[in-house]
Amino acid sequence: MRKVKSKLPIFENVEISDLAAEGKAVAKISIENAVKKDLIVFVENCVPGDVVDIQIIRKQRNFMEGTPIKFHKFSETRVDAKCIHFGTCGGCKWQTLPYSIQLHYKQKQVLDQFTHLGKFELPEPEDILASANEYFYRNKLEYTFSDKRWLTKEELGDESIKDMNALGFHIPGKFDKILDVLECHLQPEPSNEIRLAVKSFAKEHGLSFFNVREQSGFLRNLIIRNTSIGHVMVIVSFFHEDEVKREQLLDFLANKFSNISSLMYVINPKRNDTITDLPVKLYKGNDYILEQMEELKFKIGPKSFYQTNSEQAYQLYSLVRSYASLSGNEIVYDLYTGTGTIANFISKNAKKVVGIEYVPEAIEDAVENSKLNNIQNTVFYAGDMKDILNQDFIDKNGKPDVVILDPPRAGVHPNVIDAILKTKADKIVYVSCNAATQARDIQLLSEQYKVVKFRPVDMFPQTAHVENIALLVKK
Ligand SMILES: C[S@@+](CC[C@H](N)C(=O)[O-])C[C@H]1O[C@@H](n2cnc3c(N)ncnc32)[C@H](O)[C@@H]1O
Repeated sequence: MRKVKSKLPIFENVEISDLAAEGKAVAKISIENAVKKDLIVFVENCVPGDVVDIQIIRKQRNFMEGTPIKFHKFSETRVDAKCIHFGTCGGCKWQTLPYSIQLHYKQKQVLDQFTHLGKFELPEPEDILASANEYFYRNKLEYTFSDKRWLTKEELGDESIKDMNALGFHIPGKFDKILDVLECHLQPEPSNEIRLAVKSFAKEHGLSFFNVREQSGFLRNLIIRNTSIGHVMVIVSFFHEDEVKREQLLDFLANKFSNISSLMYVINPKRNDTITDLPVKLYKGNDYILEQMEELKFKIGPKSFYQTNSEQAYQLYSLVRSYASLSGNEIVYDLYTGTGTIANFISKNAKKVVGIEYVPEAIEDAVENSKLNNIQNTVFYAGDMKDILNQDFIDKNGKPDVVILDPPRAGVHPNVIDAILKTKADKIVYVSCNAATQARDIQLLSEQYKVVKFRPVDMFPQTAHVENIALLVKK
């Protein structure tokens, strides 16, 4: 006999009370006679102040997840979403919250993680550093071509729709469905113009769009990068070579957009979209674009990492520099240095900066950027942090006075924490995109260090993401 799944409950007239970690809206439901006072329900597509009926869709041990099935009241703080794709596109999920409220919840998110997960003494946080641009702050977007356009509820069943081609973003959780993006408020022009022009040209000239299930079609991805000094890089990814059609499209782009300073392409016959392991070829212009920060120039190649919000990256690095308060005599270790941007940025304030990073190509960029800027007091090493940062390394490179940490979301490996503790550096400036792992790591470092300042930084308005910088000094 088939086991009948127990029916999941509906809770009526519930007020959304908070936004928790990762931006999830929270409702607390009091259950009579329950051992625990409140049942925590994470609800999608809601903001604090909304009053809704919630259909539970998933039960977990300590909480439930639900979806609103009726709105009794919309929160007074709600604003209209700017983008026509809001609710369908996976990005910019906080558009219905005014920016000041977004900042409030980001600050709270960091403080909650620090107070709940860390058992170390905390000063009052400094106010979150807001992004000057609430929209159009990204310097890189990657669009996907697909002949399986995502159809909205209204479009489903409309037999007059014949064109199923799309150029846009993946629908969350659907690897084969692409939202055809008509407008996007994340990257400044000519980003939208280029995307729309490429799509029209491809349709008019019969260039086929990729089908990921069947692994067929010609056009695969379109990557657009720009810098604050007006350089634009466009990379077109094709599934297979067809010189005539490829040149037709690239010539069209080169002629129509004289502001593209780097036009590149890649042939990607693999099953995945990543181009990092493929040769990216130059079609016109330079094989890099330049970014500028103060008097420094940074070369960005088609595969180089660069913080996606350039203006706010400058604010972030300036805050790192101010927290490090260098006198010019220090040896600084910039751990997880990426393309060495922080290392190069602070180099003139230090005696020597040592950068370590996993990705060898990023280290090549770091070295090249030091050369480009005539910086002679940096040295970079490629490899896994837990293998590189040991006593031999410290003997060879000098004991650090200041350690800068900017690890990935997973945080710092426990062996690396031990190695840092052994350096006995005077200060640690810890930059993190995940306050939960940062709190865990600071807990481990708190045996020798205390947090003297911390400040959340908003790099990604309209999303729940938040960076946080903490200054730790030796006890
Ligand atoms: C948040 S990014 C740092 C970005 C850089 N500070 C910047 O602002 O451009 C984290 C970096 O850590 C590197 N990374 C991740 N795991 C690593 C490991 N085990 N050892 C060394 N580097 C690692 C990643 O490749 C990435 O470049």
